[in-house]
Amino acid sequence: RQRVSAILQSGLQMVGQEVTVKGWVRTVRSQKSFSFVEVNDGSSLQGVQVIAASDIRGYDVVDALTTGAAVSVVGVVAESPAKGQSVELKAVEVALVGDCPAESYPLQKKRHSLEFLRSIAHLRPRTNTIGAISRVRSALAYATHNFFQELGFKYVQTPIVTASDCEGAGEMFRVTTLPVQQSDKKLDDAADFFGRAAYLTVSGQLSAETFACALGDVYTFGPTFRAEESNTARHLAEFWMIEPEMAFCDLQGDMDNAESFVKHVVKYAVDHCAEDIAFFSKFQDKGLAARLDAVVNKPFARVRYEEAIAMLQKEIAKDPSKWQYPQVEFGTDLATEHERWLAEVAFGTATFVYDYPKAIKAFYMRDNEDGRTVAAMDLLVPGVGELIGGSQREERLDVLQAKMAEAGLREEDYWWYLDLRRFGSVPHAGYGLGFERLVCYVTGTANIRDAIAFPRYPGSCDF
Ligand code: 4AD
Ligand code: MG
Repeated sequence: RQRVSAILQSGLQMVGQEVTVKGWVRTVRSQKSFSFVEVNDGSSLQGVQVIAASDIRGYDVVDALTTGAAVSVVGVVAESPAKGQSVELKAVEVALVGDCPAESYPLQKKRHSLEFLRSIAHLRPRTNTIGAISRVRSALAYATHNFFQELGFKYVQTPIVTASDCEGAGEMFRVTTLPVQQSDKKLDDAADFFGRAAYLTVSGQLSAETFACALGDVYTFGPTFRAEESNTARHLAEFWMIEPEMAFCDLQGDMDNAESFVKHVVKYAVDHCAEDIAFFSKFQDKGLAARLDAVVNKPFARVRYEEAIAMLQKEIAKDPSKWQYPQVEFGTDLATEHERWLAEVAFGTATFVYDYPKAIKAFYMRDNEDGRTVAAMDLLVPGVGELIGGSQREERLDVLQAKMAEAGLREEDYWWYLDLRRFGSVPHAGYGLGFERLVCYVTGTANIRDAIAFPRYPGSCDF
């Protein structure tokens, strides 16, 4: 079986060769003595045009084909007279693998809204848009491993079930045993099982730190969970996060690594997913190609939080009515509109904001000398807002203990985390990149629910 992508990309090299293609019918146009069938096998956006003359084996099958049917086609590659494709297949034999009743198949030839497609998430990978997003997502995952492995980072798999709330935001899903409904007593069984209450992790960072303080440079890439009530186009209850952690690294090194990483994966997608990205540039985000080019070739901006606040204040003062949150001062947690203005208008490119106020950031971030900020950074990007959150970690035992006390955390719950500061403590830093936000960024997809196979968000856990 040949992949359609390989046949279409071969130029005219395969002309005359007999090949077998297996896939799903996108369209059928029947004329008197032959039919045109577009067969897509998911390897590329475009399917291959199959021309079946009425005297071939299995023509009765061709005659009855409908959109969505699965077929196996033996054909000879021929130069195509049609525009937009170099080659087509002259069918030798067509066999039906699985039929698809036209009257009940939810995917029609017309364009469906992304919202409708979410209600048939099990079939939507067969559409152009979701198929293309899925291919780019796969390429970005590959490029992620490739980037870190080439730099000598070790891939560690941190636990999904955990007792600690890394971000301290209290947005964790509690783990219980089945059947939950049976009795109230049952709810406690997960606690009985583990000896304490257990949750789905919001971040692998704390565990990754333990490995960075042993293996040097490490990264995680796995699912994380947040029970936040945000019903937005940028939040999921289950999302994938990439979390590098680097020993002997400070905040500058952290930002340098993050910038190289984003550039690397974007370049990989541009180089390897040209057809899909051209499709997105045409249909969902006209400025995409130019923006991706800038990501790869121009340095990212870097601005201290305090300076970003001053810029925002100046801009908001021009017309406060244009802003949903016009009140911005030192200590404000930036809203999406602020983040997007900074990246899209003020700097016009991916922008690191760093040295945030201590009061709005997590307990593990390293205190700066000024006493009121921490060595934290967020990477804000056009169209998406926050793509990355990271920091240098507090490596001084006494300072960390004081910060934990301030945050109301019990030392006995984090004894192992504190041990890292007791035994050969080193400056270290890392960050977390939201993988679905990266997929949105690279594909120009507006809603994060379309960047993951089966999105989980408030009110939705079908499929
Ligand atoms: O900024 P966050 O909360 O940082 C952390 O979790 C750190 N422990 C990471 C680290 O330093 N190792 O989350 C990191 C990124 C965000 O910048 C965002 O891209 C993504 O994760 N993210 C979400 N993506 C989708 N849905 C959500 N609900 C998200 N919450 C965070
Ligand atoms: Mg964050």
